[in-house]
Amino acid sequence: MSSDQHTQKKPEMEAPQRNLALDLVRTTEAAALASARWLGKGEKEAGDEAAVSAMRLSFKAIDIDGAVVIGEGEKDNAPMLYKGEKLGSTRGPSVSVAVDPVEGTNLLAYGRPNAISVVGVAPAGTMFDPGPSYYMKKLVVGVEARNAVDLDAPVADNLSKIAAALGKEVEDLVVFVLDKPRHGELIARIRKAGARIQLHTDGDVAGALMAVDPNSEIDVMMGTGGTPEGVLAACAIQALGGEMLCRLDPQKSKEKKALAEWGMELDRILDVNTLVASDDVFFAATGISGGTFLEGVKYTGKGADTHSLVIRGKTGTIRYIKSRHNWDKLMRFSAVKYD
Ligand code: FBP
Repeated sequence: MSSDQHTQKKPEMEAPQRNLALDLVRTTEAAALASARWLGKGEKEAGDEAAVSAMRLSFKAIDIDGAVVIGEGEKDNAPMLYKGEKLGSTRGPSVSVAVDPVEGTNLLAYGRPNAISVVGVAPAGTMFDPGPSYYMKKLVVGVEARNAVDLDAPVADNLSKIAAALGKEVEDLVVFVLDKPRHGELIARIRKAGARIQLHTDGDVAGALMAVDPNSEIDVMMGTGGTPEGVLAACAIQALGGEMLCRLDPQKSKEKKALAEWGMELDRILDVNTLVASDDVFFAATGISGGTFLEGVKYTGKGADTHSLVIRGKTGTIRYIKSRHNWDKLMRFSAVKYD
């Protein structure tokens, strides 16, 4: 053995610790079970409200001392899960919480794929506070291409570097893009470069998750979407080891003015470590409508089946959980009426 090996410090060994994400998944399951009743009914507010109250109630059982950083809005317009609201029993670690009880409210209301319920948790103070920012430009890739991307490079350059990092041709790539008028030029550039595109009306948290999942058909996500959704997706990307490069991208002068008043820099590039500055992060998502990525809630008559993704950042463990919920027992004591 060399003297170097003798002097090298061994990493500190730890006994397995609590995986909070295994508790958090109960909150996303509750939100999914409550909101999936509204699938295709054209009432996005009602579906969202059902999810918000079910999720909020189930947070009471979780031993954290949490504060909402990404929620349903400011206290004045969001009666529940508003920014700053305290969550959990207070008997646990001090954490920042990001929630989106229904990510893709229109997907749910119109019965389209990939509406999901999502929660991310990180040590208090490590989550980016979006302030008055609604929109940001995003570029998301998985771990293999994380050093290949540059938010300011031309679209074609990014695509050819991503393809090289993945050992593919540009023509093999699939880019997830939100189908919005603001993306006309981006879509034209992707097509000109030769890559293929999946256009989705909503749901760029699911898009980001698919971009970092090597088993999905999506290789990269590009375009402008919600800033809170970006922080939520960053919780998962931080845990999975991909990259997400962003820049605030206000779409209206009112948003731009509010950002200037708040003192936010518009030209700063935010990477995944800026959005969530700790790998001690937990993430859970449950499918509401069926998708390419998580199955939707299936009501069986006697209960319901849910499909969830659970990630712990510190270990990088990813779990897919299929749960069977039994009305017969659950409805004897549940404060939320799921059946
Ligand atoms: P909601 O669940 O709040 O409806 O958000 C859906 C969504 O598609 C997000 O995934 C995305 O980040 C954002 O809206 C894009 O906003 P817009 O539809 O205004 O372009």
